[in-house]
Amino acid sequence: MKTGLFITFEGIDGAGKSTQLSNAIDYVKGLGRPFIETREPGGTELGERIRSLILDGKNKISAEAETMMMFSARLEHLNSVIKPALDDGKIILCDRFTDATYAYQGFGSGVDLSLIENLERIVHNGLQPDRTFFFDLDTQTANARIAGRELDRFESEAIDFHQRVREGYLTRAKAHSQRFSIINSDRPADEIKGDLLNELAMLCS
Ligand code: TMP
Repeated sequence: MKTGLFITFEGIDGAGKSTQLSNAIDYVKGLGRPFIETREPGGTELGERIRSLILDGKNKISAEAETMMMFSARLEHLNSVIKPALDDGKIILCDRFTDATYAYQGFGSGVDLSLIENLERIVHNGLQPDRTFFFDLDTQTANARIAGRELDRFESEAIDFHQRVREGYLTRAKAHSQRFSIINSDRPADEIKGDLLNELAMLCS
């Protein structure tokens, strides 16, 4: 029986997701409710190994194989981390989930969306996040923010890839508007934090 709360955080690279995720973690810690923070790809030993393989730009992997690797990692993550935590009534703060596969592999790399839908159906077995925060920022600003960092496989893609990823997220948000909160991230970090914490307060009440 599912009693916890499953919250996911999404955004194009450089949109400020990680900063806001830390704010969410601090907030939930302050509530004194049991929670876990986790991430995708990752969250389990296998998931972290898959993450290293995928994010290393030196490995040549087709976008379809990459998609299946994401879902292999996700299956382990769901069965050994997410579902048990939900059953224990915990709040789960998860850095990216299946919307990222639609946005990056589907819209960004052109993987057939029906492949992603089929894998989603098999792997999720009906489970979806209760809420997804999408930190939305235009690609020029986001790219400028990550310039100078050491870039992984996806961060080093050209700007038109990130543009397609953003469109992918916006398409998902429109199709699943009950679940998504789009947070305009072209504002001072404190304003963004204010909006996020207001929504979290309602969700966790
Ligand atoms: P991040 O943890 O810094 O957000 O990095 C994870 C990267 O992996 C990010 O560029 C998005 C990418 N990614 C996918 O391409 N597909 C997926 O399904 C997931 C979960 C992440």
